[in-house]
Amino acid sequence: MLCLTLTGSTLEENRRLVEQNRKWISLAELRLDHLNADEQKIASSFPSTVDLPVILTFRRKSDGGACSVSEKARLQTLYETAKGDYAYVDIEEDVRKSDLKFKDPLQEQKVDLERSLRDRGVRIIRSLHDFTCVPADIYGRIAKLASKGDIPKVAVTPKSMIDIISLFRVQAELSQVKDKIIIGMGEFGICTRLLYKKCGSMLTFCSDTQAAPGHLSARTMSELYRADRVDEKTHVFGIIGNPVYHTASPRIHNPGFDAIHYNAIYVPFLVDSVRAFFKLAEMLQIHGFSVTVPHKRNVQPYLGRITREVKQIGACNTVTRIQNMWKGTNTDYYGFLAPIAEEIAQGAIRTALVIGAGGASRAVVWALHNHGIKVTILNRNEERARQLADETMSNYDSLENCNLYSKKFDLVVQTTSVGMDPNLDEDPVSAFAFSGKEIVYELIYQPRETPFFKRATKAGCRVVGGSEMLLEQGKLQFEAFSGYHYPHWIHPEI
Ligand code: ATR
Repeated sequence: MLCLTLTGSTLEENRRLVEQNRKWISLAELRLDHLNADEQKIASSFPSTVDLPVILTFRRKSDGGACSVSEKARLQTLYETAKGDYAYVDIEEDVRKSDLKFKDPLQEQKVDLERSLRDRGVRIIRSLHDFTCVPADIYGRIAKLASKGDIPKVAVTPKSMIDIISLFRVQAELSQVKDKIIIGMGEFGICTRLLYKKCGSMLTFCSDTQAAPGHLSARTMSELYRADRVDEKTHVFGIIGNPVYHTASPRIHNPGFDAIHYNAIYVPFLVDSVRAFFKLAEMLQIHGFSVTVPHKRNVQPYLGRITREVKQIGACNTVTRIQNMWKGTNTDYYGFLAPIAEEIAQGAIRTALVIGAGGASRAVVWALHNHGIKVTILNRNEERARQLADETMSNYDSLENCNLYSKKFDLVVQTTSVGMDPNLDEDPVSAFAFSGKEIVYELIYQPRETPFFKRATKAGCRVVGGSEMLLEQGKLQFEAFSGYHYPHWIHPEI
């Protein structure tokens, strides 16, 4: 179940949020602490106006909320509002039993909130928040919260892959607790939100307003990731990197799986330790994953087999599980070649100038070299260019001399980060002149038109953009992961 956290300041605003998100959500959480004081007074009527099960929550500042009244006043308001038709009421783990007894003008004796909720069939969510870490005794604490038949909720902050493993182990440790809510907040926790069912969590929260650190929108959760449809048979794939959330790969793979009705999800994993991730991959039976900076080299000690390209380039961007071992391939290599394959086959590309000698350049230079193309490498750091040139029998020079190489090559490939944010206005080879006849390849895809790209287009060159390579390498990964061709009718937004 996807639960929309409602943080509007009026009930009307919250009703609008429900309507905007209705097709993706199963329930909503009304956050009393975000409502105006006047609206709080009439919030008991809210559930009957939205036709969805609603969780009532009045969150203190110390638990990440906005409530600043005294604890007594907070609980009194919670008590009054809970008289409405709420399906769940959230009560923090440290609230004492004695503080949940209230005088009511209609009753002779004090009313015990917990008992009255249970009598009315309202489930209590017992919540624990930790914005600093995942507590060491988390399984014991969840079991304790669950002991009275309530729903335990833990919203904690993983700070490493090891913490993520602890959260995914909750289900194995506490399978007897059927209804529970497990949330990893913050940057590391996003994978636990997307794979909430694998943590044994009955629901996950979402919002358009980042109501809590790491929230994704209901639309992204449901339409892009189909997180609410993950089941026992779902194949889990993903991408590891640090940083990782900027990558376009989830927007390539998830719509592809959906289009061919393949029960799979592709999740970004922020990874600080590759070793710990391989443990998680075993636990979750991950079938394959993409690898991005800075792990393209780091994964290699864990691979049982690697292809010639991985060995040559020294980088692996795709890992798949083959016969109980991990196999490393490099689809950047083939993805780069795909848009110019015909020209290579026809012998129209015999010489190439490659600008840059970093990680991306290695895949490009090896791909060209292996196809008999004579390469010249230009780099700011000449020593780095020399090393790659030595390995691939290429020529090399300093980037400063780029004007000497004008109009001499069939193909010119730009592999540096110059032209990307924050160097959006820069061209790494502004003194280089195009003939207009060469094919020009700009590996940068964000932004699509760098100064280098624009200059080559203006000179009349055929210009290949980085998004073509990105998509081609993604399609090859898709085939390696699923065994199916990428659906040709899908055009991912990257
Ligand atoms: P990637 O994996 O994207 O290739 P990288 O391995 O860090 O990233 O390589 C970055 C490339 O961009 C290198 O060729 C780098 O040149 P140096 O080896 O001289 O560092 C090049 N690069 C980055 N910033 C540059 C700049 N301002 N001017 C020229 N080249 C630059």
